[in-house]
Amino acid sequence: MAAIEKDFRRSVVYQIYVKSFCDSDGDGVGDLPGITGKLDYLARLGVDYLWLTPFYPSPQRDGGYDISDYRAVDPVYGTMDDFDELVAQAHKREIGIMLDMVLCHTSCDHEWFQRALAGDERYRAYYILRDGRGSSGPGDPGQPPTNWDCAFGGSAWKWEPRLGKWYLHLHDVSQPDLDWTNPEVREACADVVRFWKERGVDGFRFDVVNLISKPEVFEDDLSGQGRSLFADGPHVHEYLRELVARAGIDGMMTVGEMASTTLENCVRYTRPEDHELSMSFSFHHLKVDYAAGKKWELAEPDIGQLRSIFRTWQEGMQAGGGWNALFWDNHDQPRAVTRFGGRAGVGERGGSWERVGKMLAVCDFLMKGTPYVYQGDELGMVNPGYDSIEQFRDVESRNYYQIMLEMGKGPAEALHVVNERSRDNGRTPMQWSSAPAAGFTSGEPWIGIPASARLVNAEAEVGVEGSMFEFYRSLVKLRHASDVIATGEVRFLDAGEEAPKVIAYERTLGDERLVVACSFADAPCRLADLGVEKYEVVLGNYDDAPAPGALRPYEAVVWRS
Ligand code: NOJ
Repeated sequence: MAAIEKDFRRSVVYQIYVKSFCDSDGDGVGDLPGITGKLDYLARLGVDYLWLTPFYPSPQRDGGYDISDYRAVDPVYGTMDDFDELVAQAHKREIGIMLDMVLCHTSCDHEWFQRALAGDERYRAYYILRDGRGSSGPGDPGQPPTNWDCAFGGSAWKWEPRLGKWYLHLHDVSQPDLDWTNPEVREACADVVRFWKERGVDGFRFDVVNLISKPEVFEDDLSGQGRSLFADGPHVHEYLRELVARAGIDGMMTVGEMASTTLENCVRYTRPEDHELSMSFSFHHLKVDYAAGKKWELAEPDIGQLRSIFRTWQEGMQAGGGWNALFWDNHDQPRAVTRFGGRAGVGERGGSWERVGKMLAVCDFLMKGTPYVYQGDELGMVNPGYDSIEQFRDVESRNYYQIMLEMGKGPAEALHVVNERSRDNGRTPMQWSSAPAAGFTSGEPWIGIPASARLVNAEAEVGVEGSMFEFYRSLVKLRHASDVIATGEVRFLDAGEEAPKVIAYERTLGDERLVVACSFADAPCRLADLGVEKYEVVLGNYDDAPAPGALRPYEAVVWRS
């Protein structure tokens, strides 16, 4: 069946965390047939592409981003036949499938690393191996080659006696980084992409792809740059162009996950004339509640900062001819409704969570770029609020809990921080119904179901007027139908001094002008003149019309000229 090729500027992507979407065989883990069984639900929502997180064989040290075989389906998720069936059934519904390509690192269990461990020189050259500092010779590890930290806590280097070297792992210790300076590695990675393209997929998401080109010289991080030290490295654009050309995916729907990146680089990653990717994810807007930029230190979201980041990226990508992927949530993020919605009424019928969820959706969907709906966003799913650290599964959360204890936090405080920041917040099972295990599985789910599933679930929302699901559905339709949203200019507006927690922008195309105002405040506020006096209201998240010149708590309004 021919691949799905849609205009990405008009498309909406839906992200599926396969492990938590739908379990068809009762083993407590989501799987590919589970997704196939829910395609009608996704078609009803109206989305154009599904991005599937990794379902390849993996020891699951990092939720499947530690891949031991790039060209197979892990039996826990099904078979290759199940995969082909999913693609065919999705295509019948005009839905494209995007796969996650994790090519910055492999799992230690991957054959390449195993061969390296066995002493095969060819495969040793696939990884980044170094001698220790102060080593007296072979067999003496000395100290790690640099002071770099990995993303999940602790050194980014591991001494491996079988290699007689330290290997670099920017993520978990079980995820050795591939050496992209080796042309054979680059060809092998292109071959993986080609393999899935030939199998009939319609697009790709590239995991931490701006970390593939490491610094020329490995030196200590003395200025506290952290991950930006490895981001957007010296050859990254060249490697990406080469990958795209070799795999034959230029013009396909592609998105790169860019860690600690810059606007200038994202313009280059996504300008069509550079033949790299269709669009990029950046994360600066999801750090506005990090105290002093530190993920594990809590702060209230700084909405002024959020506005300024959106403005920079929206107007900057537009000026440079690049393209943004728009999102609040994914499998690495706490739920935005909890994060930006205060704590009041989260998950309760009639509580502010519905208003907040709709406001966030409007804010995201009407910006310039391609919106990504993360599974459960369309239902208004919230953080689970677990009672003990034992309920968390994620390696990063467990590591940082320990690190926080070692640094002197008490267990209750450390648990509170993990509950706010854990990636597991986004990994709880999809809430299909109020049945046991939220209708996700007939067995024991691999991770606990949030109590909110009783109220926040698909059964309670699909076809119900005014529900979050129906609201999202109307936004998807709007996105498909509106030229001004898909292609119009974007410009941020000043909502005035009395509206410090309002984000406002306009979209224009020819004579048409849309104005969007979203309040992140839990109290009413007055708006500066946005020039909408004679406009009609086309969308809002309250049942009744907005008051002129004001917004109610968490209100979102869209006016049209
Ligand atoms: C980003 C993925 O989204 C995340 O889940 C993973 O841990 C890292 N990349 C490493 O692959």
